[in-house]
Amino acid sequence: MDKAYLRPQVFSTPLILNFMKTLRYFCFILIVPALLVVSCSHRARTVKEVMDHAIAKLYQTKDFAQLSNLDYNQVMALFSKDEKEALATQHWSFDVNQPVMVSVMRSAKQTVVPFWLTEKGFHKTNLTMKNEQTVYEVWQKSFDAGHVGLGVDGFDQELGMHYFVSVAHLNGEDQLTISNFFPKNQFVGVLDNGAFTYHDWDELVLTEVPDEMKGQKLLTTTRGRTADSHLIDAFRSTKYPSSAIPDQVHLSWSSDPSTSMDIQWRTDTTVSSGELNYREKGVREEQTIKADRIRLEDRMLANDRYINHFSAQLYNLQPGTTYEYVIGKTDDWSSANSFTTSSTDNSFSFLWFGDTHFSPKFGEILHLSYEKHPDAAFYSIVGDLVSDGLFRNQWDDLFEYSRGVFDRIPLMAVPGNHDNRAGLGAQLYRDQFSYPLNDPEGVPTEQTYSFTYKNALFLMIDATSPMEPQTPWIEKQLAESKATWKVAMFHFPPYNWEEPYLDIQKAWVPLFDKYHVDLVFSGHIHYYMRSKPMKAGKVVGSYNDGTAYAISIAIPTQNHEIIPEPYAEVRSTTGPFYQYVKIDGNHLSFQTYDNQNKLFDSFEITKPGK
Ligand SMILES: [Fe+2]
Ligand SMILES: [Fe+2]
Repeated sequence: MDKAYLRPQVFSTPLILNFMKTLRYFCFILIVPALLVVSCSHRARTVKEVMDHAIAKLYQTKDFAQLSNLDYNQVMALFSKDEKEALATQHWSFDVNQPVMVSVMRSAKQTVVPFWLTEKGFHKTNLTMKNEQTVYEVWQKSFDAGHVGLGVDGFDQELGMHYFVSVAHLNGEDQLTISNFFPKNQFVGVLDNGAFTYHDWDELVLTEVPDEMKGQKLLTTTRGRTADSHLIDAFRSTKYPSSAIPDQVHLSWSSDPSTSMDIQWRTDTTVSSGELNYREKGVREEQTIKADRIRLEDRMLANDRYINHFSAQLYNLQPGTTYEYVIGKTDDWSSANSFTTSSTDNSFSFLWFGDTHFSPKFGEILHLSYEKHPDAAFYSIVGDLVSDGLFRNQWDDLFEYSRGVFDRIPLMAVPGNHDNRAGLGAQLYRDQFSYPLNDPEGVPTEQTYSFTYKNALFLMIDATSPMEPQTPWIEKQLAESKATWKVAMFHFPPYNWEEPYLDIQKAWVPLFDKYHVDLVFSGHIHYYMRSKPMKAGKVVGSYNDGTAYAISIAIPTQNHEIIPEPYAEVRSTTGPFYQYVKIDGNHLSFQTYDNQNKLFDSFEITKPGK
């Protein structure tokens, strides 16, 4: 029997139609949002969301000692089944257009095999390959055409040798296409001896790649991605946590040094706004300026995860004038700090340091230099200010050791490889310093910039970022500058005893020669070297014809054997040192002091009068 005949005939047809319409309307109103809620709750959570949730749970339930002693089993117990699925499939993913063999190359140094490799059916082969740091096991699994999802690198490495991936087609007929990558901007290379696997260390290349794997599509990564899931030995604390009282006050310029000043500080997150009072010294009339606020997070900093960072930019100041400033509204100017804007003559001095690595010994030599040379217009550090740029506790140390100097004299720095670490970027560096925004495209803002102080151009270059986009920018800055003196500062020294940077010699040194850069200051190799005048890679007769390349170190170093450098005028393997450069019109003097304020090296340049 047709079921329609069983329908009870209670409503007339128009009534039924109206009822059905109303029902449909309510269904739309009620069911669609419900479906959305259901689908949202089933939306796969990202690895970041899963890790944020786990870390929030840890902070609620464990003290610092317990956080510091987390073991693997405790970590695994943090995650639900769905969360484990996200950790197993959403760290690295892509689509393939045909069946493939996916190989995961895992460093044998990693103590615990990532849980998802075995759980998701990868098997360990007898194949291995190497770089100069480690041997990689090769784990493989075949996938059908469609989506491939891979998991986190593990929970116990801060900056380890993250696994990398190769993909090979299984049928050999069609062109293998890999698309829809997460993370985006995936580089696809060719697996072979000599191939690099980490973008943050592209000199580290593969050796002993098995013949049967050569030519496969190689998916590269950065070592820093291990930090995404780091939980074991991962929590830190700071000796100098923030409070409601502003601290870490420091100065820099993002604009003209004769008419502006940038002043920055931090507080805890109970302080939601910041302002600064300033006045010309000796003048009662004062001005108030509101500061910009950003919240900084270091997720693993157990006792001070969030801080508020404030930045106030003072403009329209008078050249050659001393100003007093106080953070917050006050009638009490006795605690005011002061600074002096650049005057209109062509006489000034500055100090620069090699790597400081947040050492208290740097703090000592910094204060020593300040006592001897209070006239310095600014200070500079040529990179590696700290040892891990994303660990805020290290910056807290650095600011503590430099207290009483950088709140009076601006710090104009460039990042080193330790500040911009393992492909993770230099976010804390950028957030905490305020520098000119005249950077080249293709480099993060404020990591490369230039400024002119009186008759000198300073090229502050981030040598840890790609060189190519910076090269035309360097040329433009040099070509357009009318400054008498030209100084370049960047972390990697083109000439040094240990690891000469041939790419810098090739790309930037010809520009330094063409536009006659007087001084090039670098760090990274922890020793002291000041070159003879150099042009086109050769020693020339005078600093009027060639450039002085100098490397310095601001922390103690061990004396050790180094090979000869024929171009070196002065060298030392034991630090620390600081450098005092004084410019007076056409005359420049360069002095290097040790940590007893004893003169260690000096030279002078006088440019022919115009
Ligand atoms: Fe370095
Ligand atoms: Fe260093």
